[in-house]
Amino acid sequence: MQAALPLLNGLTPAQFMAEYWQKKPLLIRGAMPDFRGLLDPSELAGLACEAEVPSRLIQFDPARQQEGKGWEVRQGPFDDEDFTSLPPQHWTLLVQGVNHVLPEAQALLSQFNFIPNARLDDVMVSYAPTGGGVGPHIDSYDVFLLQGAGKRRWRISQQTDLRLIADAPLRILSHFVSEQEWVLEPGDMLYLPPNVAHWGIAEDDECMTYSIGFRAPAARELAIEFLEFCRQEGMPDELYRDPDMQPVADVAEVDANMVSNVAAMMQRLSWGSAQLGPFLAKYFSEPKAYVVFSPNRKLSLEKFTQQAAKNGLVLDLQTQMLHWQGQYFINGEAVPPLSANLLNILANQRELAAPLCQGDAVKPLLPWLHEMYLSGYLHLAENDA
Ligand code: SIN
Ligand code: CO
Repeated sequence: MQAALPLLNGLTPAQFMAEYWQKKPLLIRGAMPDFRGLLDPSELAGLACEAEVPSRLIQFDPARQQEGKGWEVRQGPFDDEDFTSLPPQHWTLLVQGVNHVLPEAQALLSQFNFIPNARLDDVMVSYAPTGGGVGPHIDSYDVFLLQGAGKRRWRISQQTDLRLIADAPLRILSHFVSEQEWVLEPGDMLYLPPNVAHWGIAEDDECMTYSIGFRAPAARELAIEFLEFCRQEGMPDELYRDPDMQPVADVAEVDANMVSNVAAMMQRLSWGSAQLGPFLAKYFSEPKAYVVFSPNRKLSLEKFTQQAAKNGLVLDLQTQMLHWQGQYFINGEAVPPLSANLLNILANQRELAAPLCQGDAVKPLLPWLHEMYLSGYLHLAENDA
């Protein structure tokens, strides 16, 4: 049986799922009582200066904010001057994908490992001085808003009026009516399912919030991607055929014969679990558009094998490895079906400790591990065990 967790207000993951997940908000005081954050504002600003880390600066004029005017959004990367020229208040910096660059943020995610990785979006970190925030809005994602340093006032509403301010450079609700509000302190957390209106405002000059977000793919997006998957690997590459063609009187008509021939062709497009399982494992393991892997320095298979046996291996922070019934995908690429047990450890624990990189079990997998190492999808661990 799963344990009751302070992280979930003393609920077990199963209780949390049954009562709150995708259903209603939950305020959790002291979710991580000792949590004070993983980085300070200047370190966050440093990340926002890096080209491969998506970031935004949002500024507003408080006098015009109510009418939805005076909002300005800039996309990173930024430089030092962008930060030194900011006013003392009423702005916020948002940095996306922090789990891809900060091992501590990846470790933070492991607290949420009762939710499948396929649902994970990323860890976003915000900093705001007093009064800063992104305005009232809804997200299409489930999110855990964990307070790091400082305090933030959250107002939420289950309102159905989701009209937006026209012409604002970000999605801001035009008729937000707060129903509940709380001030979150370090270690407190607010879970919000999709479509709950919320507005977080920094209460002091050190407010940092960690958003652990879980994506919910749109049905249309999944359908398009599934068809693309079928094009690549599902459907036989064949042409329409009509050896049963009859002479027609109406040359402009798409006739019933043609429709039934195509219907027969489309029958070969099936979406049972045998097709959807591997599709989802492949699709959800694909990296986001901004992700770039840096290849590791060249090492022969022999040297790599020796080093792996000594140090062990770790997945790159950006790597996503998922499986469907033992069919593994790494960053959208199929993995050869070898040493299933070790692949499972690598996918779940994101590492293969040194003892697992020795002996017979790992041997068939070594050429693939070596290839992944060269691509930068995984690395030699740094410990010298
Ligand atoms: C923030 O951290 O300021 C914004 C998080 C959110 O509202 O989703
Ligand atoms: Co939000």
